Amino acid sequence: MAILTPKALNYAEQLVMYTDPDTCPTDALVPVPLAEEPAFVSWQQDIPREYLAMSPEELDRRIASARAKLGTRLTILGHHYQRDEVIQYADFTGDSFKLARHAAEQKDLEFVLFCGVHFMAESADILTDESVKVILPNMAAGCSMADMADPDDVYQAWDEIHEMLGQDASVVPVTYMNSAANLKAFVGERDGLVCTSSNADKALEYAFARGEKVLFFPDQHLGRNTGYAMGFALDEMVLWNWRMPNGGTTPEQLKKAKMILWQGHCSTHQRFTAAQIEKARAEHPGVQVIVHPECPWETVQAADFNGSTEKIVRAVTDSPAGSTWAIGTEINLVKRLADQNPDKTVFCLDPVICPCSTMYRIHPAYIAWVLESLIQGRVVNEVKVESDTRKWALVALERMLALP
Ligand code: 13P
Repeated sequence: MAILTPKALNYAEQLVMYTDPDTCPTDALVPVPLAEEPAFVSWQQDIPREYLAMSPEELDRRIASARAKLGTRLTILGHHYQRDEVIQYADFTGDSFKLARHAAEQKDLEFVLFCGVHFMAESADILTDESVKVILPNMAAGCSMADMADPDDVYQAWDEIHEMLGQDASVVPVTYMNSAANLKAFVGERDGLVCTSSNADKALEYAFARGEKVLFFPDQHLGRNTGYAMGFALDEMVLWNWRMPNGGTTPEQLKKAKMILWQGHCSTHQRFTAAQIEKARAEHPGVQVIVHPECPWETVQAADFNGSTEKIVRAVTDSPAGSTWAIGTEINLVKRLADQNPDKTVFCLDPVICPCSTMYRIHPAYIAWVLESLIQGRVVNEVKVESDTRKWALVALERMLALP
């Protein structure tokens, strides 16, 4: 059953919304056939054309019928940022950590359909048995932040850091879950580990128990916010600009630094500001502000709480009736929390923020297509990590899963 929001946008209005973030409405998205979504053609060329015009109701029927046929051979996982008309199909929802742990626990199934983005599907592939096929409904659902850490740039940074500090420098690499599988393997091979926004502090403790410095990538904000909360001063965390020789740093800065932060960011979370929080406090006395730790440091400092998407869900869900929450994260999750908590006031800190554009690339049409293909005996959009990468990436992920 598709979930409808109050006001439909026509094609032209949606196009404006996608191309001009300053005029992006937050509460007027409705399910539309894939063909009516702006720029869909460039998202995944090979989806058969018959799926493009299907109405939400037809897609819903086809997905339900395909799932019934596949039964327990399949499970569908959904990240909290998926839109309502996708998350309704998920057997299990969560933040990146919860989804990774759940994937690792899966037994006796053949297929995992991952409604999320590419790095999440890769992690699920690494953590499930080799025989399990992990499918991403739309292969163009990536993560722009993960793309900011190109493996070659990271390998070069590692070499430059060791040239500047000496080959025996004690640096442990830590990668955010939002990264390619070969970077997870890179840290696994070098005594490092993966972290998510729900365990970055524990991951850093693990790393600092084994080395004097940490190279943290790709999200500078999660690294800075976590390091600061652990007691590091801002000037002990140097920014590594991967577009510049030696990351734009001097040997003196590097020697002083405890953390070397990759210059990557999340375009959605970077939009939240301390000024928006000030405005929310002025307009809603008693408001509680919770933001994702991918937000800039000043924003996190101005908020009452910060945490992963799962922590945000729990904070709002567990709060008493009558509570007021201003939230700094992706709009589909904020909208769902507002809908599910009618006895509370829940709103997005940025009234004009857009959805995460890559999470948004999962549409029910892709789900129908990949499920019906499975029934016909064809696996489309399988995400498969090759075995050398898998071996070390698994080490890095298992270190994370074993954190206390
Ligand atoms: P969470 O682990 O908090 O769900 O975050 C995932 C993510 O990609 C945020 O941009």
